[in-house]
Amino acid sequence: MFDIDAIRKDFPTIHDESIYLDSAASSLTPYVVLDTMADYYLHHRTNLHRSMHKLAMETARKFDASMENIAQFIGANVEDITITSNATAAINLVALSLDFQPDDEIIISTLEHSSNVFPWMRLATKVGVKLRWWKAADDGTLDLAELESLITPKTRLVAVTHVSNVLGVIVPVAAIGAVCQEHNVLYLVDACQSVPHLPIDVKQIGCDFLAFSGHKMCGPTGIGVLYLKPPHARDLTPAFLGGGSINTYRSRYATLDDCTLASHNYSELPHKWMAGTPPIAETFGLSAAIDYLRGVGMDAIVAHDTQLIQQAINGLQDIPGVILFGPSDPAKRSGIISFNIQGIYPLKVGRLLTEDYNIGLRAGHNCALHYFHEVQQANIVEGNVRASFYLYTTPAEVDLLINAIREIAITHGKTALAVG
Ligand code: ALA
Repeated sequence: MFDIDAIRKDFPTIHDESIYLDSAASSLTPYVVLDTMADYYLHHRTNLHRSMHKLAMETARKFDASMENIAQFIGANVEDITITSNATAAINLVALSLDFQPDDEIIISTLEHSSNVFPWMRLATKVGVKLRWWKAADDGTLDLAELESLITPKTRLVAVTHVSNVLGVIVPVAAIGAVCQEHNVLYLVDACQSVPHLPIDVKQIGCDFLAFSGHKMCGPTGIGVLYLKPPHARDLTPAFLGGGSINTYRSRYATLDDCTLASHNYSELPHKWMAGTPPIAETFGLSAAIDYLRGVGMDAIVAHDTQLIQQAINGLQDIPGVILFGPSDPAKRSGIISFNIQGIYPLKVGRLLTEDYNIGLRAGHNCALHYFHEVQQANIVEGNVRASFYLYTTPAEVDLLINAIREIAITHGKTALAVG
């Protein structure tokens, strides 16, 4: 039973006087996550896996259980995930930990967020790998046949988003996984916008790496997760090494000169990938967020998203001057609707919405420059207006957005200029 009134009471920053439609940038956080983190700081504030006192042991036990919970949420084993500071750090970690060679080719789609572009661009500059762009159609759909045509014997990695942060379009990640497996190509999925909204099973997707952030899924900021398909976590050398990732307890060396990386073993998984003190409170918080989402039910969240997207499409498509982006079938998208009003800059729409209607959303390129430059070049280069929904968004809020857009289009849009 999806009880939205009860859900809204769980979030301290939900107020009737303002409307939050920016969950794709960062979701709101329920009390249970805050309480879990406060409990650690108030009653269990220690490091973990280092000291042997009782409190540190308790913290370590809770941390290990939280990591198990996080892994289970995406169908992974705990040995195959690592905690990072966010999804961007997770993607960078893969880019820095794989041993790319000058002739290697990396395929990325034009839907990608900057965080799934620039780590690969740096490899192009520093190592000489070649980037190949998989161009999306206007509505954000990607053609698998084109992917097949881009893959060459030199292709090392395909990196794509699961859900576009601009359009909300759901990318067929499992079908892409099958193509990558067939060609023996590594495959990374940016699941930032999908893990909060869709049930995820890394084995079903068939990816080598999957990255997501805690702060878009009711969890805290400062935590991300990287999944590494076996045996990558075991076989690769992490880009970051240090305390916790190296097993120093059994090290024996005669002189300091004998103390080398080779004279040590890595810690057992998953600790090998977690050099330095991890974000402990945030890991507890993310685990609590996962329990919260499970309690609501991921299928219920999908159904709620779909209903809101359908409502937004229905309401916005009839407004003269409104151009909708992305597929019109709500089943093909998740949590995000984006649009423009002819004759008015998207950033101005965003400003009017916050100043005159108390509606908070994101407008502009939304960190997806390549989509606007390559795919939408002919139409618009200033980006668009993005409203993003989550489990606490109500149909009444979507109606208020539609009415606000209608008024803005009438008063400020091209249609208004034509009449006035
Ligand atoms: N990645 C976040 C967004 O798309 C910040 O808005």
